[in-house]
This record gives sequence, structure tokens and C-alpha cells, in this order.
Amino acid sequence: MIIVSNRGPVTFSRSESGERRYSRGAGGLVTALNAVMRLSEGAVWVASARSEEDVEVARETRGFYREVEEGGGEGREGTLRVALVEHDERDYDLMYNHLANPLIWFVHHGLYDLPRSPNLGDDTRRAWEAYRRVNASFAETVSEVASGLGDDEPTVLVHDYHLYTTPGEVRERLGEGAFISFFLHIPWPEPDLWRVLPRYVREEVLASLLSSNVVAFHTRRYAEAFLATVREVPGAEVDHDRSVVRCGDREVWVRVYPISIDPEEFASFARSEAVIEEERRVRELPGKLLLRVDRMDLSKNIVRGFAAYERMFERHPETVGKVTFLAQLQPSRQEVPEYAAYAREIEAAARRVNDRYGTADWTPVRLAMEDNFVRSVAAYKNYDALLVNAVRDGMNLVAKEGAIVNERGGVLVLSEGAGAFEELREGAVPVSPFDLDEQADAIHRALTMPRKERERLAGTLRSRVLENTIEDWVRAQLADIETYRSGGSGY
Ligand code: F6P
Repeated sequence: MIIVSNRGPVTFSRSESGERRYSRGAGGLVTALNAVMRLSEGAVWVASARSEEDVEVARETRGFYREVEEGGGEGREGTLRVALVEHDERDYDLMYNHLANPLIWFVHHGLYDLPRSPNLGDDTRRAWEAYRRVNASFAETVSEVASGLGDDEPTVLVHDYHLYTTPGEVRERLGEGAFISFFLHIPWPEPDLWRVLPRYVREEVLASLLSSNVVAFHTRRYAEAFLATVREVPGAEVDHDRSVVRCGDREVWVRVYPISIDPEEFASFARSEAVIEEERRVRELPGKLLLRVDRMDLSKNIVRGFAAYERMFERHPETVGKVTFLAQLQPSRQEVPEYAAYAREIEAAARRVNDRYGTADWTPVRLAMEDNFVRSVAAYKNYDALLVNAVRDGMNLVAKEGAIVNERGGVLVLSEGAGAFEELREGAVPVSPFDLDEQADAIHRALTMPRKERERLAGTLRSRVLENTIEDWVRAQLADIETYRSGGSGY
């Protein structure tokens, strides 16, 4: 089995004394794919070389993989087999900062102000060509790894929107014997939104995805949107009942596997000394704790979250001075101008609330723009209300992580635009991400709910998360691959 994603499980660096080191890669996707590696013996993970030292490793191991101790040498036993792909720097920049993260991400999350942008032209075409070259390099490495393993019918699991044209490139190199599965970690847009992308992008992405055997999503809603998009592709026949697209001789299974977390591993991290130490600082914050933990991304709706909090003070003035809003925000994609501008907007929005309501001994918003996982987990354990108000979000694992470790019967305020809403709605207070009054009242309700009701919701939430763990996510995919490969008919 070969797993392919842009971000890899480890990043290499050099210490001052010249020793090679590595640290664990960041993000939900990496954690999830680590679980795939654990459950599929002998798998190799192909990912981009992102640091200077990664490039050195890529050059040394070209065409094959390197074994590293899982978890940076600490924690879990075992090794990871990693093959890094070196990209032309300019191409990678165009792919990541000009095509995948602004254009594709924005379209899939509905972030454009459509009368004004995007304005597509030659630059888009150039960025798309770079995107395709980056994807071709991935496919080249996949084919080298497969031949190194002596496997001419490998199972190749390709992940996420950076790699839309990789399935097609892999199919071209490895032929029909390869089993290709593509997993999208972000929402698939409705057909009208999808059509914001240039025609050449749409045609090539769909042709590539339909050369896979399986195309998978986090929710039924995204799978339905994909089927509706594909219905317009000439030669593709959609069998809605079986959730299958027929393309010539190939059946493409369109599947739904909601991603999750490893509750035991997460809970055990939450019990660690570092987290307990940090909890002392979190508990010093005055009043009830309203928390949000997010990457600094426009899709997360952070500015509106502050506006809703401010609205709560207007509508429920008795709450002024009785709550602290801790926003743990991890900086992200700061080379994309829209993200850099959004970071400034976030600061201004937090400042506005603090200027209007803050006093000498109370800061209504505590803004922490930092990558501090320990602090986030310490805060998860202690929130009274957790705000997840994303405009759209593939899944949102924050909602699941919080549910597992919170110790205060904290209440989740959950946007109906998050993929997690499909599974968790009964254990949360639902909100529209666009309705400020509704969010203000939902936060107020979450903070003032009677104990019994809080505990009932927290219990429901916890059991929903425990019903579908990361292991279930991996096993469901492996079972379908097995059925498909052995000629079964799926649904
Ligand atoms: O939401 C999709 C996703 O790939 C997540 O899995 C991941 O946490 C996030 O985007 C990270 O994005 P980037 O690799 O750009 O930091």
C-alpha cells in the first residue's frame, strides 16, 4: 500500500551540532494517516519535501523510502516508511500558494465574494500548469516506490485537494492493475459553485478522479454534491442507488467515511504532565470559559465569532464581565495574501471587543495566535462552551477532540456548515454560521444551561465520537478495498 499526501508524517531538520532530526508533521490529516500506516503493515507514505533537510533526504533516497521511528523517536514503537518528493520551488509555490490554497480551497468552502473575485486569467493557467507538474512528480515517486517494492498492482491512497491530478497520472504510469482510492478532506462544492473553477481545471480534475476506483468524502452531503457534478461529465453514468459512477469498463465507488480521532491516545495525551501544568494557567482566566481552537483560516469564521460574542453582551448585558473568550489560533498559509489580511482582521475584531468592554481586571477576548497544542488541550479540558462556527468545514476535529477530554460538562455550539454536524448535531447547540443573533443566543444558552441538560448533551456527544473512531475510519476503507478487489459489488 502506498499513501500519498502533500504534508507528510515527519519534517526533517538539522540541529546546531549538525545532527539530523525530525519532528512529527502537523494537522488532522497527518494524524489520521498515521492510523492508516499503523493498520496496514508495510505501507509507504509519499509526501512533499518541505524543509531544506527534507530535500536532502529526498535526494539521498530518491526512488525509495526511508524508515524513521514513529513519533520522532518518542512514544509509540515501530517505524514509518517515508518517501519524500522534491519539487521545483517555484512550481511548489504556485501549486500551494496560488492554486490549491487560494483558488481550490476558496471555491470548495464558498469563500469568494463572487461579484468581485476570482478574476481568472493567464496567472491561473500558469499556476495550474505548475500544479499539474507537482502532481506528476508525486505520481513518478509512487511508481518508483511501487517498482522498488516489486509490486505492480499496488493499492494507492491519494489524499486531498493538492493532489487532484495525481490519480490520473498514477493510472497512466501503473495501468489498470493499480487500485487507486482518492479521499477528499474538504467539502465538495455544489455544481454551481464548482463551475467557478476554470473549465480546463474542472475537466482535468474530474477525468483524473474518475480514473480512481474509489472517491471518498467525509459526509453524504459532499458525496451527493460530487455525484451531481459528475452527472454533467460526458460518458460518465451515475448509478445513484449504488453510489457508483460507471466510466467505460471501470466502476468508481463514491463512498462516505467520516474521519475521527483516536479517543484513547487523545485522552492519554490530555493526562500528560505538560497539559496538567498548562491547565493551571487556563484556570486563572476569570469567569466562564468560552473557547475556540482553529487554524487561522477564513473558512473558520473567526471574525464573525467575535462579533457574535459582542452581540451576546448587547443582548444579555448581565454576562458582561462573567466570561472569557479564549481563541487559540494556529497561524496558517501566511504567504497567501487573503490569509495574511484575515490575520489582521482577526486582531482588529478582538481588539474592538476588548476596547469596548474590557476593564482593568478583565479582558473579554484572549487572543493566542500560536501553534500550541498543549495549551489547546488544556483549554479543551476546561471550557464551559466550545464555539465551532465554521462557514464550511470538511469535518472539524476540534468538535470531536473537545468532546472526549472536557471535564466541565462543556457545551458545543456547532455550525451546520461543519461536516461534523451530520454526526454530532444531537449533542450540540446548532447554529447558522451567518446568523449573528442566533450565535449570540446559542453561546449564551451554552454558558447558562442547567447542569442536567449540559451533562446530557456532553454524554450524547461523547458517545457519538466513541461510536466512530479513527480506527473505524481506516477499517471501513480497507474493507471496501478488499471487497472491490475481490469482485464484490459494494452497496
Ligand atoms: O482540512 C484539510 C487539511 O488538509 C487538514 O487535514 C489539515 O489540517 C489542513 O488542511 C492543513 O492545511 P495545510 O497543510 O495547508 O497546513
